[in-house]
Amino acid sequence: MTEAAVQRVPEAAAVMPVGSGEALFALDDVGYAYSNRVVALDGICLQIWRGERVALLGANGSGKSTLLKMLDGVVGPTHGKMRALGGDVAAVAAGEDGFRFHRQVGLVFQDPDIQLFSATVLDDVAFGPLQLGLTKGEVRERCDEALAAMGIAHLADRAPFELSGGEKKRAAIASVLSLRPEVILLDEPTASLDPRTKWVLVDLIQRLGEAGRTLVVATHELDIVPLIADRVIVLNEEGRVVADGPPAAVLADRDLLVRANLIHEHLHEHGGATHSHPHDAAEGHHDPVPTRPAGRRPTPQAKARPSTGASGPRRP
Ligand SMILES: Nc1ncnc2c1ncn2[C@@H]1O[C@H](COP(=O)(O)OP(=O)(O)OP(=O)(O)O)[C@@H](O)[C@H]1O
Ligand SMILES: [Mg+2]
Repeated sequence: MTEAAVQRVPEAAAVMPVGSGEALFALDDVGYAYSNRVVALDGICLQIWRGERVALLGANGSGKSTLLKMLDGVVGPTHGKMRALGGDVAAVAAGEDGFRFHRQVGLVFQDPDIQLFSATVLDDVAFGPLQLGLTKGEVRERCDEALAAMGIAHLADRAPFELSGGEKKRAAIASVLSLRPEVILLDEPTASLDPRTKWVLVDLIQRLGEAGRTLVVATHELDIVPLIADRVIVLNEEGRVVADGPPAAVLADRDLLVRANLIHEHLHEHGGATHSHPHDAAEGHHDPVPTRPAGRRPTPQAKARPSTGASGPRRP
């Protein structure tokens, strides 16, 4: 992937008007149960504002993917009320106004196989822009830009099933970038990426944030959190929010991280003495608090509210 390829940040689509003073997403005592049986989310009260960069943390099964699907209008709450982009998300989930909604909100699914269904990578990346009624030239420009941003221009003519896991992930991200949504939801975007691609993606996420996009990123990688987020929301294993605040404060709370199963205490024997070290649950690091400095200023929203409480046009 060349430097030039990652310098450009696609322009966002026209911004949908949301009532002044209204959050982009507002969840009021929201719960979600699969098949009315498996509780994935419970009692979620939160608001996400335009331009925020949010990291969503939680152990396996804590509800991160379910919450992202709800923000994307794939599913509506089974309990409580939720508004998204000025409308009722249950209506979007029921198929009302989905086209308009998904011009503005794109979700990169955790599993890229859900996102890639066309004969070639280029067809997948072009799918969203083609729905928008753009000219051939405009569609091509968006595709070139998205493929270059993810460093996969050379894979444009390959079938998605011929790609490696990491290449599929990059293609899935490109298929959302090509829509230029204002809100980008990323479900474990760095999982299965090699180190260079991971940091290129971190850089891209930073630049999307600087360009004013609203970003919500579910991740297990604590080291990238201060770089990609101004706000961290932690879900516990019961699908409830147990922390919501700035990265430095949340990541410094070791008891919270252990309780939420984001790090674990690991006992070691050294020279006859027993020590315990917190480990990053995902990567086994000794120190979950990154040493690399944050690359970006906090948004005004993050300063104002320190601790309150892809998709694209729907695919077949
Ligand atoms: N399609 C489904 N049908 C039934 N239960 C489901 C389904 N998808 C998820 N669940 C359950 O809902 C809960 C939340 O799952 P979810 O995928 O949202 O967690 P997650 O935080 O994204 O986990 P991970 O870190 O493993 O990706 C879990 O208990 C899970 O078993
Ligand atoms: Mg998940």
